[in-house]
Amino acid sequence: LRHLLALEGLPRAALLRLLDRAQALRADAYAGSALRGTLAGKAVCNLFFEPSTRTRSSFQLAATRLGADTLNFDASTSSTKKGETAADTLRTLQAMGVHGFVVRHSEDGAVAALAQAAGAGTALVNAGDGRHAHPTQGLLDMLTLRQAKGPDFARLKVLIVGDVRHSRVARSDLHALRTLGAAEIRICGPQALLPDAATLAGCAVTQDLDAALDGVDAVMMLRLQRERMQQGLVASLQDYHRDYGLTVARLRRAAPDAVVLHPGPMNRGVEIDDAVADGPQSRVLAQVANGVAVRMAVLEELLG
Ligand code: CP
Repeated sequence: LRHLLALEGLPRAALLRLLDRAQALRADAYAGSALRGTLAGKAVCNLFFEPSTRTRSSFQLAATRLGADTLNFDASTSSTKKGETAADTLRTLQAMGVHGFVVRHSEDGAVAALAQAAGAGTALVNAGDGRHAHPTQGLLDMLTLRQAKGPDFARLKVLIVGDVRHSRVARSDLHALRTLGAAEIRICGPQALLPDAATLAGCAVTQDLDAALDGVDAVMMLRLQRERMQQGLVASLQDYHRDYGLTVARLRRAAPDAVVLHPGPMNRGVEIDDAVADGPQSRVLAQVANGVAVRMAVLEELLG
C-alpha cells in the first residue's frame, strides 16, 4: 500500500493482513518499548483540519510507539488562518522531512487530492474526509467485531443505525463488511438521513428500529452529525431518541450475545442511552483500544 485513502477497493487479503497485524500488536500498543525503532528516523504529522479526540490521539500514540517523530498540526493556530492552502501546508511540512501524513478534512476527496499533490515518497492516511471515508475507523470496527464474534463474518447479521447519510464511518464499515462477506447488513434510520442507493446496495433498509434489531449479532450506532446537517432533517432530539435511540429494552430484541459499537463521540440520551453505552454489551472502549493497534499496523505498512 502507498496510501490508505478508503476501504473501497482494498483487497480482502490486504484488509485481513492489517487486521492480523493489529491483533498481534494489541499488547505492544500499550507496552510500547518492544516495538520502538520500527519507524525510527521517520516523521509523522497529524494534519487535522477538523476536530478529533480518538483518531488524532491514537495516531500520535501509534507513531510514538513505533519510534517515529510526531508532529501535531493545529489548524486553528496555523498559517491556514492567513489563507495558506492545505497543499502548501503539506509541501511546507514535507520540506522539513515529514513523509507520513495523517489527514482529516471536512471535504469529500480532500485527502486524495493532497495525496496527488504530495508526489512520490510520501504516504497519506485518510483520518476522515467529509462524508466519504474513515478507513482506520472501519478497520478498528472490523477488528472489534472479529474479537467479539470470531473470524467468520459469513455468519454475522450486522445492523447500522442512525445518520448514515452524513457518516464516513458507515461508508467505510459497509465496504469492509462486504469485503469480509457479512451474512446480512441491515440499515435503519429516518428517510432524511439515509444515503444514496449506491451506498445502500445489498443492504436491507428499514425505518423500524424494533424490527431491524430482531436477532442481530452486532449493532453499530452512529452519531447524529448535527454539524453537517441542514436544519429540519430531524424534527427534535426527543423524537429522534424515541424512534432511533438504543435503549436496554430495545437491545433485548437483538441476539442475547449481541455487541454494541459506536465510533464516538456519543450523543448520550440521543442515539444511545447511558445504560447501553456503559453496559455489558458495549464494545465502545474496546473500539478505542483497538484504534491504537490498528493505526500502528497501518503506519507500519505504509512507512515501515
Ligand atoms: N471516531 C472518531 O473519528 O472520533 P474522533 O472524531 O474523536 O477522532
